[in-house]
Amino acid sequence: MEFNKISPQILDAIKAIAGDDAVLTGQESLEKYSHDETEDLVYYPEVVVKPQTPEQVSALLKLCNENTIPVTPRGAGTGLSGGALPVKGGLLIAMERFNRVLEIDEQNLQATVEPGVVTEEFMNQVAAKGLLYPVDPASKGSCFIGGNISHGSGGPRVVKYGTIREYVLNLQVVLPSGEIIWTGANTLKYASGYNLTQLIIGSEGTLGIVTKIVVKLVPAPTQDALMLASFPANELACAAVSAIFRAGVIPSALEFMERRGVEWVKEHDDIAFDLQDGIEAFLLIEVDGTNQDVIFADCEKINAVLEEYECRDVLFADSSAQKEELWRLRRTMAVSVKSNSVYKEEDTVVPRAALPLLIKGIKETGAKYGFESVCYGHAGDGNLHVNIIKAHMSDEDWNNKLKSGIREIFELTVSLGGTLSGEHGIGLVQKEFMPIKYSDTHFAIWRGIKQVFDPKGILNPGKIF
Ligand code: LAC
Ligand code: ZN
Repeated sequence: MEFNKISPQILDAIKAIAGDDAVLTGQESLEKYSHDETEDLVYYPEVVVKPQTPEQVSALLKLCNENTIPVTPRGAGTGLSGGALPVKGGLLIAMERFNRVLEIDEQNLQATVEPGVVTEEFMNQVAAKGLLYPVDPASKGSCFIGGNISHGSGGPRVVKYGTIREYVLNLQVVLPSGEIIWTGANTLKYASGYNLTQLIIGSEGTLGIVTKIVVKLVPAPTQDALMLASFPANELACAAVSAIFRAGVIPSALEFMERRGVEWVKEHDDIAFDLQDGIEAFLLIEVDGTNQDVIFADCEKINAVLEEYECRDVLFADSSAQKEELWRLRRTMAVSVKSNSVYKEEDTVVPRAALPLLIKGIKETGAKYGFESVCYGHAGDGNLHVNIIKAHMSDEDWNNKLKSGIREIFELTVSLGGTLSGEHGIGLVQKEFMPIKYSDTHFAIWRGIKQVFDPKGILNPGKIF
C-alpha cells in the first residue's frame, strides 16, 4: 500500500477536528511518541493528535482513510512488542485524553471506562467500592486499560482470575470508515453472532480504535498470603509449578524469577532481601480469598509440594509492607533488566507442565549461540518472559547470529504445545516468527478480517502479520 504524507491542508483539517492545542508537529514534542518500551526502536510520526471524543476519533479516521494516511493508535506507550511505533509515519492518535472512569455500576458489578485510564487508577477506584478488577500487568501504574485491550494483557493474577479477555463485556470501537459501533452487549453471556469483542481484544489497533470499554468486576478478596520460595535449580522451581495445581490449589499469583533477575532488581532498586548462595530460582506465590483458614490450608498444601521439589527456603511475608516489597521485587524486574543491559525480550507461553523443558531448552540454546538470558514471568500460566542480554556478545553476533537462537526458542515453544507471546503481543518485533506457529490458512483468514475492517490498510500498518 502506498501511503500519502500529511499535507498542510490535511494538517489544517486535523486541527479543525481536534483543536489546535490537541495537535503536535515539532520534532521535540514528537519525540515522546517516537518510541514505546520496546528495546531501543525509534520511529517518528509526522503528526500527533490527542482527541477527546469518539466523534473526533471518527472524523480523524475518516479523513485519514479518504486520504490514505497511516494511523497508529497509542495508549501509554508501555508496550514491549513495538505495537505503538508509527513505522510508516503518518498520524499518531494518542488516547491520553480519554482518561475518565465513566461509571462503576454496583448493581451489576460492571464499569464503563475510557481507554486512556491508567490501569491501577481504575483498580483503585473499583477497590474503594469493595470490588476487584484483577487484570494487573506489571506496568499497571503507568499502562492504559486501552493498551491492555490491544494486547489481550495479563499480569500476575491471570492464573486465578483470567486475562482481560475474561473481563471485557462490550467495546465502543471507531472503524477506519468513521463508523462507531458497539461490539456486543453489557451482558455476561453473548451467543448472537461472531464475537466482535474478542476479535478486537488483542488486535493491536489494526482493526479499529476503542473509545469506551465495559468490563465486569468481581467481589474483592479480603485476605491473602504471600510467600517466596527459593530453589537450587530453575527446572526444579518450574516443575513445582504444575504440581501445586495438581495438589488442588489455584494460587492468585505464581511467578517465576531467575536469580540474575533478582540480583539486578536489588542493585537497581535497593530492595532489602538476603540472596543466599546456591539459589538459582524463585517462585513468588500468592493465595487469596475470604477465609483465612482456607488460605492457611492452601499454603500448607503448597509447602508440601515445594518440599518435594527441593525448595531450600520459604519466606512468608508477615506484614503488608513486606508483601509490597516482594511484589516490588517482581514488578520492577523488567525495568531493572532494561537498565542493566542491552537486551531483547521474547514472550513465550506453553502448557504449564512443559515449563521445565522450556527453561532447559532456552539455556541450551543460549549456550549454543553464546547468549545469556534472564527469565521470569507468570509461571502459573506457563508464560515465561525470556530476556536475552547482550553481555559479552559481539555486535556482529548480536545483530546476526542471535536471530537463529530466538527462532530456535520459538520453535521449541511451539513444539511443546505453546505459542508466541502470552501477553506482550506480536507488534513489530515478533511478527517474523509468526509462521513458526501459524499456517498460510491462518494468514489468509487474518488478512480477510483486516480487509473487512480496514480495506485500505491505514490502521497500525506493519504490525502482527
Ligand atoms: C512483567 C511484564 C514485562 O511481567 O510483562 O514484568
Ligand atoms: Zn508479564
